[in-house]
Amino acid sequence: MIFRQLFDSVSGTYTYLLASRPGGEALIIDPVLEKVDRYLQLVRELDLKLVKAVDTHLHADHITGLGALRDHTHCITVMGEQTKADVVSMRVSDGDRITIEGLSLDALYTPGHTDDSYSYVMGGRVFTGDTLLIRGTGRTDFQNGDPRAQYDSIFNKLLRLPDETLLYPAHDYKGDTVSTIGEEKRFNPRLRVKSIDEYVDLMNGLNLPNPKMMDVAVPANIRIGLHQDDIARKGWAVSAKQAMDMRGRSDVTLVDLREKAERERHGVIPGTLHAPYPALQENLGVGGMLHALAVDGGKRIVFYCAFGERSAMAVQAAQDAGIGTARHIEGGFDAWKKAGGPIGA
Ligand SMILES: [Fe+2]
Repeated sequence: MIFRQLFDSVSGTYTYLLASRPGGEALIIDPVLEKVDRYLQLVRELDLKLVKAVDTHLHADHITGLGALRDHTHCITVMGEQTKADVVSMRVSDGDRITIEGLSLDALYTPGHTDDSYSYVMGGRVFTGDTLLIRGTGRTDFQNGDPRAQYDSIFNKLLRLPDETLLYPAHDYKGDTVSTIGEEKRFNPRLRVKSIDEYVDLMNGLNLPNPKMMDVAVPANIRIGLHQDDIARKGWAVSAKQAMDMRGRSDVTLVDLREKAERERHGVIPGTLHAPYPALQENLGVGGMLHALAVDGGKRIVFYCAFGERSAMAVQAAQDAGIGTARHIEGGFDAWKKAGGPIGA
């Protein structure tokens, strides 16, 4: 397994690059915009294919690298369903699993630092974002932070993991790199409280200054979406309403790019073909399923995904592969649902 802990000294952020093997798929957690070139270089050097980029929460102290990594690698961007970030490709909720080849992360909803904070458990490791830090806890005084929720997240979720679980936070300002759940139980001063009320008082009494980058980082991190407008301007987008009229036409095939778990949880547009986004290049190439449909079968492919982000990238890829008739549903399945389109299982 490949496990790299990378550090941005300006914001004190830890970023994690994970893969099951050299030459395989990789996932990155909490990338920082200014370090994107370094990550891409490392991904190349280790012969990896970056397929997913995850933010544990909406950061206030640095601009996320999610958008830039997506633009460079066409990876899937992932955050929790509560996030205010405009468009991420995939949204997870408590208990969901994020998978790449040979690895999986279990999503644990741990609000408190923000209302979109998630921790991710992978085997004997937990990535705690800013919920539980080494000998500290993330502040709870902005971005819908809530010390009561954080107490619950820490005491009733994170501290219930086995004591030997390795704890990897999103930040450290003292130079510590890793701890364990058992160690934090014993030595984290913020956790030496006798009640939830005592914790709330402690957190509410911190009186911290706002992060230097907050006024820049939060607005930037809310707008990381790929510009679906650009795809629409090229005439490659259809609205959910238009897609409803197209559905069932013999010359049109609707193609669902989402993963199996997303389809099971949210439902599907009835009568659509499933071709998950990670296999897109293969499917578009000569001999691939979508190539055969569009080029040999003369079908117009209309892609969709959860919010229109993966499908916008897919339209571009299809156009690049010479499939000029490809379109996507702007706003994805979310827009379809809002427009009252039929939903199947
Ligand atoms: Fe944070």
